[in-house]
Amino acid sequence: MLPKKPGATAAISVTKTMPDIQIAGRQLSMPSGSNLLEGLLTAGIPVPYSCRSGHCQTCLLQNHKPLAHGDPATSNLSPEQQANGWLLACQCAVSENLELTRFDPQQSATPALISGQTQLAGDVLELRLQPRGPLRYQAGQHLTLWLDDNLGRSYSIASLPDDDGLVFHLRLYPQGAFSQRIQHMDNGQTIYLSGVAGICHYDPDWHDRPLLLLARGTAVGMLHAIARDALKQGHTAGITLIVWQRSEQSGYWHAQLQAWAEQHPEVTYLTTTDNESDQLLRQTGLVARNAIALVCGSPVFVERQRKPLFMSGLARRQILDEAFLGSQ
Ligand SMILES: Cc1cc2nc3c(=O)[nH]c(=O)nc-3n(C[C@H](O)[C@H](O)[C@H](O)COP(=O)(O)OP(=O)(O)OC[C@H]3O[C@@H](n4cnc5c(N)ncnc54)[C@H](O)[C@@H]3O)c2cc1C
Ligand code: FES
Repeated sequence: MLPKKPGATAAISVTKTMPDIQIAGRQLSMPSGSNLLEGLLTAGIPVPYSCRSGHCQTCLLQNHKPLAHGDPATSNLSPEQQANGWLLACQCAVSENLELTRFDPQQSATPALISGQTQLAGDVLELRLQPRGPLRYQAGQHLTLWLDDNLGRSYSIASLPDDDGLVFHLRLYPQGAFSQRIQHMDNGQTIYLSGVAGICHYDPDWHDRPLLLLARGTAVGMLHAIARDALKQGHTAGITLIVWQRSEQSGYWHAQLQAWAEQHPEVTYLTTTDNESDQLLRQTGLVARNAIALVCGSPVFVERQRKPLFMSGLARRQILDEAFLGSQ
């Protein structure tokens, strides 16, 4: 062993068992390894949240310095967000002292004016917004819509950047904090948009590969927008849009999709139900070996479609999905 130089101190790594958390003028101690969102809510600090699984970005908090590269609390965030110290509280296992600031939509998000609301069948609201600032996105990606600094929800974009404003298809839930409030707001009122994200959008590299779009519920809006984007970008292989219906009843946008598909010979529009869908997907020729499948809807729906798609010969990398997670 080397003799210790006089005055030298050994480098000891100490893991704090109760890291200090500073937020909103308060200082708390939380057990190392505990969930940050749970700890803050238990301490009575109002932090907005929805999915609790790292997808919706409503629980964003900013630390005074970036977390270590690869921390699960930042893995769903952009490199720019990570570099600026943002983290997702629901994915953060406390392991060090944190000095946190809440996300303020009025400071950090893009304002947008409500420009139209149309009630569609089946408790679905078509919401139109005019952003009041630059916003880079592709049809099918999702954003967080904020009504105030405590109420944000994720919604997928059902329009193209060249359209007149942004369009969303929102399910109206009887107990829905966001959906019940927005449907009573007026045109011209301001809401805020943040966190463009999501892998479900059209990639021009797919131009000669058949597209299979599987939608349930309000995912119809964003997948229709992706199909429109594909046609606009010169997609040369076929596009098949399959919409799941609850029963024999038509889905909320059936007539519009039928009319649109009739105008585009490249598009096949089909409807199905849970009972019939496996058989439909096994139908010879429907799922081509080189197809790209985009699957969007409830988490259960997305999970359920994987097996029949694998059985039809698609590899994992050919299937992209987006689960519309609700508040947990
Ligand atoms: C990436 C992403 C994209 C999404 N895109 C869309 C979209 O384009 N259109 C859309 O309508 N939704 C979409 N969602 C789902 C939407 O964000 C949630 O449903 C949201 O919680 C609704 O907010 P709310 O305030 O109306 O209801 P909340 O106040 O959040 O929930 C109140 C109650 O309503 C019911 N509820 C709410 N959401 C769901 C759900 N998804 N499934 C089952 N029951 C629910 C539950 O009973 C819940 O307790 C998306 C979610 C994610 C994560
Ligand atoms: S990402 Fe944390 S609550 Fe949704």
